[in-house]
Amino acid sequence: MSEKNDHKNIDQKLDRRDFVAGAAGLAAAAVGISEAQAGGHSVKPMELSAEDKAVKLVTEGTVILITGASRGLGLEFTRQYSARGAKVIATARKPEKADELNMLAADNDNISIEQLDVTDHARIDALAAQYKDQPIDVLLNNAGIGGGIENQLWGKMNYDTFDLVMAVNVKGPVKICEAFRKNVEASDLKKMITVSSSQGSIASVTMPMLYWYRSSKSALNMNMVNLALQLKRKKIIVGMVTPGATATDFIPEPFRKAIKGIQTPEQATKDMIRNIDRFTLANSGTFFDYTGDIVPW
Ligand SMILES: NC(=O)c1ccc[n+]([C@@H]2O[C@H](COP(=O)([O-])OP(=O)(O)OC[C@H]3O[C@@H](n4cnc5c(N)ncnc54)[C@H](OP(=O)(O)O)[C@@H]3O)[C@@H](O)[C@H]2O)c1
Repeated sequence: MSEKNDHKNIDQKLDRRDFVAGAAGLAAAAVGISEAQAGGHSVKPMELSAEDKAVKLVTEGTVILITGASRGLGLEFTRQYSARGAKVIATARKPEKADELNMLAADNDNISIEQLDVTDHARIDALAAQYKDQPIDVLLNNAGIGGGIENQLWGKMNYDTFDLVMAVNVKGPVKICEAFRKNVEASDLKKMITVSSSQGSIASVTMPMLYWYRSSKSALNMNMVNLALQLKRKKIIVGMVTPGATATDFIPEPFRKAIKGIQTPEQATKDMIRNIDRFTLANSGTFFDYTGDIVPW
């Protein structure tokens, strides 16, 4: 096959996954080198112990704390986990403006709403103090921002945006894991899960864009891998999931049409919940995409 045809073939494969990720193999093929040469590496699933095989699932009474529950995927996580009978502590930056979340909580008494801006570390500490005696089974770092395409165009880089994106996407989740560590340790499921993005997968990207957002998710992934190692001794499971391109406010309307296979928030959340269920101590530190495949670093 000619080089031209190779590229055509690759273009045809650009879909929901490739928009956000693209396998290392595709990236490598695009520049005509082998996957191994591309320098990507992935974590191989480990052998599961008998203990790990008895995966504990979210059931009635499981407690889940979610950040960024006002809209998009956080709202959908709240809806689906509540429907599964979990007790959801749905946090939102501005609860008074989160109309859909308020309506959902009014209809479901297993949802409670708390104010939380993930860049406000004093507030994170205060919330952790308020829930001091509450075991939290799944701590779900979902809140995230893209930073705006126009703020990360080469030649017109907005350096203040970098600080904000890092504060929300990296420092926020790390601080939340630190503040609520004892709550997770005291729980049954013991999971700290973060919604990352395959845009942070260095082995996968094929065209230059989203400098700040991509680097924030790469940094986030490294912090979560560190945390998985840090907390294994405490039997806390750390994991990353990604929804793939999903039609939320995160992707403005005009761009959605260009993404083949863009998913609904409902389906993307269902996929992530299935993958969150799959996390065990043996695969702690893994990053699953929405299909359940491991995203290359
Ligand atoms: N949609 C996609 O295609 C896609 C793909 C890959 C990964 N992701 C990841 O999925 C996660 C959720 O994204 P989404 O699609 O649901 O986006 P979204 O619809 O834009 O929602 C973002 C959520 O994050 C909250 N948030 C923003 N800054 C915050 C802060 N400082 N403190 C607390 N909450 C804050 C927002 O709250 P407000 O309402 O107060 O602004 C909102 O609830 C993000 O981590 C994103 O990186 C999304």
